[in-house]
This record gives sequence, structure tokens and C-alpha cells, in this order.
Amino acid sequence: MKKILIVGAVGQIGSELTMELRRIYGNDNVIASTRKSPPSEMVANSGPFEYFDVVNKQALEDVCKKHGVDCIINMAAILSAVGEQNPLQAWDINMNGLFNVLEVAREMKMEQVLVPSSIAVFGPGTPLDCAPQETVLKPSTMYGITKVAGELVADYYVKKYGLDVRGLRYPGIISNETLPGGGTTDYAVAIYYDAIKYGKYTCFVKEDTRLPMMYMPDCLKATVDLMQADFSTLKHHSDFNVGAMSFSVKDLADSIKKYIPTFTIEYKPDFRQAIADSWPDAVDDKAAREEWGWSPSFDLDMMTQDMLKVIGEKHKKGLI
Ligand code: SER
Repeated sequence: MKKILIVGAVGQIGSELTMELRRIYGNDNVIASTRKSPPSEMVANSGPFEYFDVVNKQALEDVCKKHGVDCIINMAAILSAVGEQNPLQAWDINMNGLFNVLEVAREMKMEQVLVPSSIAVFGPGTPLDCAPQETVLKPSTMYGITKVAGELVADYYVKKYGLDVRGLRYPGIISNETLPGGGTTDYAVAIYYDAIKYGKYTCFVKEDTRLPMMYMPDCLKATVDLMQADFSTLKHHSDFNVGAMSFSVKDLADSIKKYIPTFTIEYKPDFRQAIADSWPDAVDDKAAREEWGWSPSFDLDMMTQDMLKVIGEKHKKGLI
């Protein structure tokens, strides 16, 4: 049985991944952790929880030994927009945190490490209509730089030490449980909350900005499917492109208008426009489909209906 430690379990993906893995592997076998923010009630009440900073290797090792951890999922990261405000902190947490995770996993001979990457690995030189699996990786954000370096370091541990390290390049992730923090793709979540709360949204990127996106149920499925794939059949390890949807902000607003006809949107692009412009519209995920059977379920309108239903219910209950 796996004992899984999720580092960064109060974030947008980590919080829901904790619940999904507890459902699959049992509550006591999934240890959630974070640096400082308190967990949601759902995460706190359903299984073990630890506070520590991933840049402190000893603290990470102590928690792994205490719980007999044999798999670490490192969701702790400073994302693209916040990373540009403090690039050195982004490097410190994203890279030194990763090295600590890989070193502790290697020393303790763990079964598996999952290290997420991102569409932020792409940048000038990448074909932007549909980013191939193998392409130029010259990102312009510190977040992207740490993700490219992270993919290379993770693959290095596979080759040099035989450690089972896996990772996928998440597109923008849209969800309704925990808000994203500090990313460029955050507008695709905020638009739904503001549509429900105010009937209007002011977007920080232009209406023709098109990016690869994915709804949280597909994100959880992609993560679990990759974790459960047979290691010996994988040709790639830490850098799988995974696609689901590709839409512009206008497409997203039009989808919301189908269900809230009075919804309005205006555009006030800021520094995040340049980041979005450096990322591709879509990704070619053939390798993920061939090597571990990746296949998404949600399209834009299905996601919009679900998002508006869930966020609408929270709003009625006064929770948002
Ligand atoms: N959602 C992330 C960001 O916008 C991309 O991985 O920074």
C-alpha cells in the first residue's frame, strides 16, 4: 500500500488531489501538508496533516519517516504571476523544494515521486498554435524557467538513480473548491465567481487571448492515471503535454452568456498579458495518449454548466 505525502495540499490542485487520493488509497494513507496556510475543513478532518516548509530538507525527511511515506507529490510552487514579483523566492521554493523532495525520495528508496510541470515551460520559439511534445523550451517567466529546469532534474533522477519520477505539464486549471493563487490563467476561474456574484467581470488579458485549459475532474484524472501507469511502458517521464480544451476569453464569456444572458465583460490587460501571449493556444498530447491512455472528458460548455451550478449554490448559501 502506498503512503503518499502531498506537499502543497492547501493549494488549488493539492486540496482536491488530497481528497481524490484519500478516496482511492484510504484517508490514513494520504498525508496532506503545507507551509503555513491552514487547510480547508474537508482536508483537515479527513486524514493526517503536517505543517513544514519544503525548503527545509530535515523537516521533510522527519515527516516522511514519521509516516513511512513511499510516494511524494510536490504541489508546492510559486506560480507565474506572483513569481514575477519575487523571482528569487520562486526559484528557491520551486527548485530547492524539488531537490529536497528528490533527495529524500532517493535516500529513502521511495516508490514514486510526482512533480508537476506546466504550459509555462513554453515561450518564444515554441510553435504557439499547438505546442509539440518535443519543442523549444525558452520560457520568459521565472516560474517557467523553474519548470523547465525541474523537468530536466526530474528526468536526471530517473536516469541516474532509477528513481520513479513522473510529471505532466498542466494547462490552466479551472475549479470551484479552492481558488488558484498567483497564476496567469486565474482569470478563467475568477470569471465564473464574478459572473455569479456581480453579473460582470473585468479581465486582465485581452478577449482574443487563447490558452490551453482543463477542468479539475480531468486534472485529477490525468494525475491519477499517470501515477498508476506502468513505469516500464513510459518513454517520457516528467514532461507530458496534457490537453483538454483551448478557448479564448471571448469563447469563455460567450459560454457563460448562454446560461447568464445578462453577463458582461470588460478588458483591462496588465503585465499578465505578456505572459499569456508567450504561452501556446493548445498542446499536442499524443505522447500522453499513447503512453498512458490520456483522454479528457470535459468541454467548455459542460464545464461552464458545472461551474455555474456549484458556485451558484455556494453563493446562495452565503459561502462566497
Ligand atoms: N496556471 C499556471 C499559471 O498561470 C500555469 O501553470 O501560472
